[in-house]
Amino acid sequence: MKNENILVLDFGGQYNQLIARRVRESHVYCEVHPYTLSIEKIKEMAPKGIIFTGGPNSVYGEGAALCQPELFELGVPILGICYGSQLLAHMLGGKVATAPVSEYGKTEVEIVKKDSPLFKDVKDKTICWMSHTDYIAEAPAGFTVTAQTPVCPVAAMEDASRGLYAVQFHPEVMHTEEGIKMLQGFVYGVCGCKGDWQMTSFVDEAIAQLREKIGDGKVLCALSGGVDSSVAAVLLSKAVGKQLTCVFVDHGLLRKNEGDEVDSVFGPEGPYDLNFVHVDASERFYEKLKGVTDPEKKRKIIGEEFIRVFEAEAKKIGKVDFLVQGTIYPDVIESGLGKSAVIKSHHNVGGLPDYVDFKEIVEPLRLLFKDEVREVGRTLGIPEYLVRRQPFPGPGLGIRIIGEVTPEKIKIVQDADWIYREEVAKAGADKDLGQYFAALTNMRSVGVMGDGRTYDYAIALRAVMTSDFMTAESAKLPWEVLSICASRIVNEVKGVNRVLYDCTGKPPATIEFE
Ligand code: XMP
Repeated sequence: MKNENILVLDFGGQYNQLIARRVRESHVYCEVHPYTLSIEKIKEMAPKGIIFTGGPNSVYGEGAALCQPELFELGVPILGICYGSQLLAHMLGGKVATAPVSEYGKTEVEIVKKDSPLFKDVKDKTICWMSHTDYIAEAPAGFTVTAQTPVCPVAAMEDASRGLYAVQFHPEVMHTEEGIKMLQGFVYGVCGCKGDWQMTSFVDEAIAQLREKIGDGKVLCALSGGVDSSVAAVLLSKAVGKQLTCVFVDHGLLRKNEGDEVDSVFGPEGPYDLNFVHVDASERFYEKLKGVTDPEKKRKIIGEEFIRVFEAEAKKIGKVDFLVQGTIYPDVIESGLGKSAVIKSHHNVGGLPDYVDFKEIVEPLRLLFKDEVREVGRTLGIPEYLVRRQPFPGPGLGIRIIGEVTPEKIKIVQDADWIYREEVAKAGADKDLGQYFAALTNMRSVGVMGDGRTYDYAIALRAVMTSDFMTAESAKLPWEVLSICASRIVNEVKGVNRVLYDCTGKPPATIEFE
């Protein structure tokens, strides 16, 4: 069965994925594509509605991203958001101009057309997130103004007869208090979607499709213990059982007890019917990392060594037909305005194709957002602690130790991180955190313990809130939690006499330290 779908056309807005996630949270399948997607492709997809995202341009700017006029002939409802709303106005004969005052942040918007399907059950005055310098000065002929602010005469407009809707603010952003109602007003009220995107049906369909694709072939999965590869592995094991072999390469750079946790779920004692190989390769990695301090070199060494170990294991298994990759939807979406610069060479345990002799890659999660992957994990009965696990980078603690990586330093960062996670979870302070961990700085400083002088390392604690890991805000953890962590870490972890809290956002810092 093909799901009903909404198409998000991306004009380079920073919230493009968020729009799709909000639509999917409303149980309507949604894909993000660059605004240049051809009309033929769009017809093939047969979306029930199209959403234009925001974007950095002005409709009058040089090389402005304009949409294809044929879109308006498809008879498919369109919702324009921010730049997308200005684009609708501009292309259909309205007037876009520089606003006398830029509106940025939470803004009270007055709904003037209360029976608009977008504003069903929305308060007459509602807080919305604005972020614009241009605005719609005049709505095109045929449009009715549906909302306004003191600055924006056209904060929203619609031409219901043509199914065209536009909002200057961002309904997808959490700060727009009733934004989800507005998006649902569009997808349900205007586009007539029913909400047939459910994770339980996704699982059944995915298993059936995997069985058909794989037949009696052999499947290999690099298991990291992270959410994506774990969910992919379980999905495949449900589909093809013992035809699947999972290889878990322990590079010795894992968090405390992580190897045992993976064993208990995927090993012979665990609930799944699969072949599981746990390779303890830590000595190999430590040997290669001896004396290396440059972050990029460390990343490259860990990535390459990982591939070698994996390749050796794959050879033992023999000819493999399919290799599993835990690719998820954010990795697949290509921005409407092109890719951005590479800041770090990310190594993903799934990224191994050149070295292993196989016929085809299977990416069972390539259409899912992270929250959906977690939901699938729950549907498959994977333990909650694995499903809720925060992202952990492929190079592991190797990039949370500044400078040379040694077994002693790994032990320090593992123990400090364990205490930190335990205390944060105990205090219930982990709810809104995207990621939180301890890192080991290469700074040693003077301290005093008992009556003696110490000269030991400083541990840095980091906690960030983020929706996409591209940008992040440092979390304001309760001081009591931080001070308990500081005291436990210096008392319980040998080699540490100072604990620092990283209050930098991303940018300018990155989430990991190296
Ligand atoms: P940064 O440090 O670039 O991290 O702000 C953004 C997100 O990516 C994760 N990360 C990685 N994940 N392989 C991965 O699979 C890597 O090499 C890698 N480096 C960073 C990081 O944990 C954060 O979630």
